[in-house]
Amino acid sequence: MTDVSTNQTQLTSFRPGALWLDNHGVHINAHGGGVMFHEGIYYWHGEHKIEGAAGNKAHVGVHVYSSRDLYNWRDEGVALAVSDDLGSDITRGCILERPKVMFNSSTKKFVMWFHLEPKGGGYSGARSGVAIAEKPAGPFRFVSSFRPNAGAWPVNVTESEKHPLSASELARINAMELNGGPRPYYPKHALFRRDFAGGQMARDMTLFLDDDGRVYHIHAAEENGTLHVSQLSDDFLTPSGKFARIFPGRFHEAPAMMKWCGKYFLISSDCTGWAPNAARISTAEHIFGPWEELGNPCIGTGAEIAHTFGAQSTFILPVHGKPDAFIFMADQWNPKNAIDGRYVWLPIEFHHDVPMIRWRDEWDLSVFNK
Ligand code: GAL
Repeated sequence: MTDVSTNQTQLTSFRPGALWLDNHGVHINAHGGGVMFHEGIYYWHGEHKIEGAAGNKAHVGVHVYSSRDLYNWRDEGVALAVSDDLGSDITRGCILERPKVMFNSSTKKFVMWFHLEPKGGGYSGARSGVAIAEKPAGPFRFVSSFRPNAGAWPVNVTESEKHPLSASELARINAMELNGGPRPYYPKHALFRRDFAGGQMARDMTLFLDDDGRVYHIHAAEENGTLHVSQLSDDFLTPSGKFARIFPGRFHEAPAMMKWCGKYFLISSDCTGWAPNAARISTAEHIFGPWEELGNPCIGTGAEIAHTFGAQSTFILPVHGKPDAFIFMADQWNPKNAIDGRYVWLPIEFHHDVPMIRWRDEWDLSVFNK
C-alpha cells in the first residue's frame, strides 16, 4: 500500500538489520532508543547520529518518531536539541546516549533521561541528564545533569560497608589499573563507597516503568562493573535516593527491563564498547534483588548467539494491550559511519517461562497471536 501524502510504501512487517525508512523515505535516526505509548500512539526517541565517526558524538540531539502500528514511523523532528551555548552541559559535541522517556501522570509532563558525557571529557563524566516536555515529541527542555544518588547508600549493602573510602583505601585503588586491559582488577566493594559523596557513575542506562507507576533508572555504575537499580522521585526528575547494586563485578551493560507474570527480567550485554557480544538474561522477584543470571537469551547457531545477532540491547517494548507481547529492541552499531547503525527488533518468546530471542529475517505482530 502507498501513503499518498508521502508516496511511501506502507510497511506491514519488521525486517531486523535492514534499512528502516521513515515517512520521508529516510533511514530512521533514533539509535540507542526507547519507545513509549501515549494516547494511542507510540513514540520512538533515540540518538540522532550523523555520518562518519563524528556521529558517535551528539551534533543534533534526540530524534523522535511516531507510529500507530510500530512498522511505519513518522518523523517528528528533534525532541531535544543540543545547545549552541558552550557553557551548557549538552553543548554540541557532547556524548548523549540511550535516551528514554516516561510520562508522569501526576505532573502530566514527559521526562527524558539519558547518559551524558560533557564535551571534551571522553567517557569520564558518567552523568545522567534529565529533560522535560509538555508533549511526547517535545520540544524537551534540558533540566539538569548529575551523578545520581550522592549521599545515599544502596539498600542492599551491610552496615559495615556504609562508610566512605578512607584516603589510604582510595590511594590503593587508584594505584591499581581499574579499567585497562581485560579488567585486571575490580574492587567489588569499594567503588560505590568512593562515589558516595559526589554521586554514582551512570553510563549505559534504561528506564523501566513498574505496574505501580514507579519508574526505575537502571544504569552501569562503578566503572561499568556493577549495575545500579535506582528508583526515581515522584516527579521523575531526580533519583529518590533508594537504589540497589546488582551483579557487582559482572560488567553488565546496555540494560533493558521487562516484567512478566510478576517477575522482573533484565536483558543486558557484556562490556565491549561498540563491538557486539553475547547477551545475558537475568531475573528477580523484587526489583532490588536478589537477581539471578540465567544465561544467554538468544536462540540460534553459535555465531549468532555469541554476538546477539550483531546487536546490543537498548529497550524492551511492551506491545500495548497484549500482556504477553514484548519486542526486544537492539542496535547494530556502526561506529565508523554512525548514522548507518541498524535496528534489530525481535519478538520475545517464552521458553520454560524465560524470555528468549530468535533471529527472524522478517516478522509481524501476528506472531503474538499464537
Ligand atoms: C557501548 C555502549 C554504547 C556506547 C559505546 C561507546 O558499550 O553500550 O552506548 O557507550 O559503548 O563505546
